[in-house]
Amino acid sequence: MTNNNNNNTIQTNTEDDAEIPGIRFVDYKDESQLEYVMSLVGRDLSEPYSIFTYRYFLHRFPELCILAVADDSPEPIACVVGKIDIEGVDETEQEQAENAEKTGYIGMLAVQEAYRRKGIGQALVHRILQRMKNMECRSVTLETEVTNTTAQKLYQDRFGFIREELLVRYYLNWNDAYRLRLWF
Ligand SMILES: CC(C)(COP(=O)(O)OP(=O)(O)OC[C@H]1O[C@@H](n2cnc3c(N)ncnc32)[C@H](O)[C@@H]1OP(=O)(O)O)[C@@H](O)C(=O)NCCC(=O)NCCS
Repeated sequence: MTNNNNNNTIQTNTEDDAEIPGIRFVDYKDESQLEYVMSLVGRDLSEPYSIFTYRYFLHRFPELCILAVADDSPEPIACVVGKIDIEGVDETEQEQAENAEKTGYIGMLAVQEAYRRKGIGQALVHRILQRMKNMECRSVTLETEVTNTTAQKLYQDRFGFIREELLVRYYLNWNDAYRLRLWF
């Protein structure tokens, strides 16, 4: 199945952001896009996520999954996926906790190799941060491997995320991670 240039299957994002020629940003609509997200993210992961993890993010927070579609590719070429955590509240009780402090979490970000260094990753992060801000998050966190200096540059230099914690042997491959946080 292809979904480029097809507004019947994916809705064009109308947020007022800088344009990248040949690229459109679209919202996650339904499970027909799940395979694209899994394939984009799966290529770069040092440890695999189960389909249940993807479904948890996408079903509960569809507005926090944004895909990039290129004019010259039949499939989405990048995506960002996030969720909202509510501080001090168990996940099963989160829907009732209207007034509790919300924290955004960026769980996945991937740009297909051929499309990197064109500002797409930055544009996706910019969009998800805007949404998290609109959803009244006070801050946003994420983890990145200590060896992933590309991601760190993007988050720290472009958006002002700060290193909050070193997570020793955080990943299944025993690599360490940094927890980064951006305060709004
Ligand atoms: C990290 C990633 C999403 C960046 O996507 P991208 O579209 O290439 O990034 P952008 O073009 O928006 O780059 C924005 C800025 O990030 C930094 N950056 C991006 N790629 C970089 C690289 N290879 N080396 C150094 N800095 C880099 C630069 O500051 C860049 O700005 P500049 O091009 O003006 O110098 C992409 O490399 C990727 O998919 N990597 C594999 C998956 C991954 O690591 N995800 C993050 C998990 S935490």
